[in-house]
Amino acid sequence: MAIRPVRTMGDPVLKSKCSPIKKIDESLKRLIKDMADTMYDAPGVGLAAPQIGVNKQVVVYDIGEGLEVILNPEILESGEGEEGAEGCLSVPGEERAIKRANWIKVRGLDRNGEKLEKEFSGFAARVLQHEIDHLQGKLIVQRGRPLPKKEIED
Ligand code: NI
Repeated sequence: MAIRPVRTMGDPVLKSKCSPIKKIDESLKRLIKDMADTMYDAPGVGLAAPQIGVNKQVVVYDIGEGLEVILNPEILESGEGEEGAEGCLSVPGEERAIKRANWIKVRGLDRNGEKLEKEFSGFAARVLQHEIDHLQGKLIVQRGRPLPKKEIED
C-alpha cells in the first residue's frame, strides 16, 4: 500500500502533457497500484498519473464496478454536450459546472497492454473526459464556470 500525496493546482506537473506508455513493466504496475491506493484513500472516483507527480498517460477509475485502468486513452467519438457539476482532488474546495459529452468511445490499452475500446455514458463519460484532460495538462479551472461554494455542514 502506497498512498502518495495528491498534487494540487500550482504544481507544474499538472500542466504538462503526459507521454504514452510504451512498455508494461514492474514500475508501471507499481504506479497503477499507488494510483489506486491514493484514489481509494482520497476518496475519489478517478485519478490520473500527473496527480501523483508522474507525467505518463495512465488513468485509474472506479465508478462502483471495481478498479479499472486505461493507458494512453484517446477519445474516438463523442455525443451531445451536457452540463454537470465537477470537482477535482487537485483543485480542493472548488466545484464547477462543466459541459461534457454525455457519451464517448475511448481507445487505449488495458493494464496488460492489450488494446481496448470502450463506450461510456453519463457519469462514467464525465469521469473519463475529466481524467483524459489531466493527461493533456488541463484542470477543471480551465473549463466551465464556478459553482457557489457549498455551505460547510457539521
Ligand atoms: Ni481531477
